[in-house]
Amino acid sequence: MDAKARNCLLQHREALEKDIKTSYIMDCMINDGVLTVSEEEKVKNEPTQQQRAALLIKMILKKDNYSYISFYNALIHEGYKDLAGLLHGGIPVISSSNGGKDSVGGITSYVRTVLCEGGVPQRPVVFVTRKKLVNSIQQNLFKLNGEPGWVIIYGMAGCGKSVLAAETVRDHSFLDGCFPGGVHWVSVGKQDKSGLLMKLQNLCARLDQDESFSQRLPLNIEEAKDRLRILMLRKHPRSLLILDDVWDPWVLKAFDNQCQILITTRDKSVTDSVMGPKYVVSVESGLGKEKGLEILSLFVNMKKADLPEQAHSIIKECKVVECHWGILTDLLHKWNQS
Ligand SMILES: Nc1ncnc2c1ncn2[C@@H]1O[C@H](COP(=O)(O)OP(=O)(O)O)[C@@H](O)[C@H]1O
Ligand SMILES: [Mg+2]
Repeated sequence: MDAKARNCLLQHREALEKDIKTSYIMDCMINDGVLTVSEEEKVKNEPTQQQRAALLIKMILKKDNYSYISFYNALIHEGYKDLAGLLHGGIPVISSSNGGKDSVGGITSYVRTVLCEGGVPQRPVVFVTRKKLVNSIQQNLFKLNGEPGWVIIYGMAGCGKSVLAAETVRDHSFLDGCFPGGVHWVSVGKQDKSGLLMKLQNLCARLDQDESFSQRLPLNIEEAKDRLRILMLRKHPRSLLILDDVWDPWVLKAFDNQCQILITTRDKSVTDSVMGPKYVVSVESGLGKEKGLEILSLFVNMKKADLPEQAHSIIKECKVVECHWGILTDLLHKWNQS
């Protein structure tokens, strides 16, 4: 780690040790691949919160620049804005001359910026990868080959569609190769006419922040649709529109605009009346045993192999009631807080 970063950590060590709760911060750092599960276990074994924080910081001090950045991001993510502010001055500059490896766990600063600007939600705190599904969504977007069309992530509520959509674009080479114009995330949900107009107006405002196309918002859905087409064509070519949680076919018609669109929905038929190629990726609602155990092991900070027999029963029970990602993680969060 750079001397500047190290000094900054040392200088603010006391304040950090006093205030941070380590468990969620370590989740973020494990996700970033800068902390191991066994290091996490060691920290967990310390008796008090302050001692846990002290040990974590001691470990980070022995690590590299990426670990410093990961720790900084984790503080921001977990709501420790003031503490992150203390570390801001020490953030090491990672030059692009190191083969473009300015990334933490494959997520480069380029990806972070594009996703942040596009309004893409962050990862859940406890996160497990679903590589096969993400690959399949990426492959289908790839098939669009730069031409207008639709990729539909379809499945029951809580099966992880939104998280998957966000993961699909959390990928440097994919973004760079397929959507160098960036991504724009819209949480659509169930809407009436005025709700939809507001969504469209907000999107147009976002896509035209310097108001170079128009200084007033579109007044009706037709006008908004036209505005959106021009903005996507002229100002944001080669970008991806992500429409999250679409309920109604008529809502989708307002976006049927010669763009490349990724949508998540519980109703496969929402795209029945839109134009262009469509590719569907179905997401199973049932939580697979391995993924279920992986989530459990992250929550209780144990290796999957070391989980007690009860863990298997929990997953079995979950399967019986068709439990999905949302229900299991909600339960675990509540359990964690009690
Ligand atoms: N890959 C994942 N790792 C960990 N938790 C997940 C994952 N995918 C989903 N979840 C959990 O399930 C919840 C529901 O996922 P979400 O993507 O919102 O489902 P959907 O959009 O299908 O309704 C999330 O809030 C999160 O807590
Ligand atoms: Mg969703």
